[in-house]
Parts: sequence; C-alpha cells; structure tokens
Amino acid sequence: MNDIILLTIDFVKRQLKNAEGGHDWFHIERVWKNAEAISKGESCDAEIVALAALLHDIADAKFHGGDETVGPATARNWLVSNGYSETKLEHIIAIIQNVSFKGGSVARTHESIELDIVQDADRLDAIGAIGIARTFNYGGFKHRAIYDPEIEPNLNLSKEDYKASTAPTINHFYEKLLLLKDRMNTKTGKELALERHRFMESFLDQFYAEWNGLR
Ligand code: ADP
Ligand code: NI
Repeated sequence: MNDIILLTIDFVKRQLKNAEGGHDWFHIERVWKNAEAISKGESCDAEIVALAALLHDIADAKFHGGDETVGPATARNWLVSNGYSETKLEHIIAIIQNVSFKGGSVARTHESIELDIVQDADRLDAIGAIGIARTFNYGGFKHRAIYDPEIEPNLNLSKEDYKASTAPTINHFYEKLLLLKDRMNTKTGKELALERHRFMESFLDQFYAEWNGLR
C-alpha cells in the first residue's frame, strides 16, 4: 500500500474517533473493502477509489449543521497538505461531493467509474444486516421512534425533507434502504445488493409479524 493511503487511514481514524456508530472508522473500512471487491470486476484507478472511499464521510454534513462543503474541504486540505497531485485530487473531491443519497432526487455533477464504485460500496453498507444495524443506531442517536403505524413513509421526499425528517426509523427503509438495489451502478454491486435487499425484506416481515403478536 502506498504512503498516502496509509497516512489517510491514520488521519480518518483520528478524525472519526468520536463518530456515531454508523458513520465511524468501521463504516469507512467496510466501504473501502466493498470498493476493493467491486473494483476487481472493473477497470479503474485503484488509488482514486481507495482515497475517495477513505475520505467520503470525513465530515458528513449531517454532523456539521447541514454544511455540505466541510467534507470536501477537509479532504482537499488533507490531500493538498500531503502534496497530492492536482488531477487526481479534483477527481477524488468530485466523488466525495456526489456519493451521498440525499433522498435520491439529486442529479450527479460528475460521472466516472470510480464514483460508480465508491457509491455502490457506500450503498451496500446502507443495506442488509449492517444497514439495519446502522439505521436503528442512527434512529436512536436522533431519539426517533422505532416504528409508528400511524406515520406513513413519504416516498417523494425532496432533498430538504429527506434531511429534515424526524420520522420513525422503520420509515427510512421505504424512504431509502429498499430503493437502493435498483440504483446500483456496477454488476458486482447489483448482485451483492440483491442478497442484502432480500435479507431486509425478511427482517421487515418478521418485524411486523412480531409487532402484531403473530410470532
Ligand atoms: P446519504 O446521505 O447517502 O443518505 P447518510 O449518511 O444520510 O447517507 O445515511 C447513512 C446511513 O445513516 C443510512 O443508510 C442509515 O443507516 C442512517 N440514516 C441516515 N438518515 C437516517 C434516518 N432518517 N433514519 C434512520 N437512519 C438514517
Ligand atoms: Ni458513507
């Protein structure tokens, strides 16, 4: 592994030391590993994929008063301070700016196979067993209800509504998690997403059955 990647691992671990459990170093590590696995089936710049995966949540807007510029700026300062080369740097920043879901209605401002890979890798960590754990952890962190049968999911959330949502955590499955399998970019990403999607569907079946005292 080259020096800038090793230095960046250390930087990200330090920056995310007190992060919420779903957005901590282990999330970054899983996304990085997912990205490496997806990259095997694609022709891409491995260094850009690794650095973008490692830096994609370095300062998530959710935890910085909604400011979407802090993450890209922190990543840029880090890379510049390490003398990182200009063209690759701009590509990495563009990936970080475009990776997030934000309700799914916001168009990308950059296209590349490296963005496809990192976005799929991040989305995989939002679904399946890990996705379920992260979602309830975030809901708890935000003092949200687990479920409220009276509050219906909203399937047409604008970016602003999505970010401002205070809905019960189960709603997030319908507002984001179950939508992701149809939005994967790469062949490997699609295959892995399908398996994780099915697991969430059976989790929800069991959840409602237990809620209604049927099991
Ligand atoms: P994006 O910005 O791409 O949607 P986020 O960082 O907002 O990604 O979401 C990452 C994960 O955080 C989600 O997959 C989910 O587990 C959790 N999360 C985010 N928003 C909510 C929410 N409103 N309710 C429950 N979990 C959430
Ligand atoms: Ni992420």
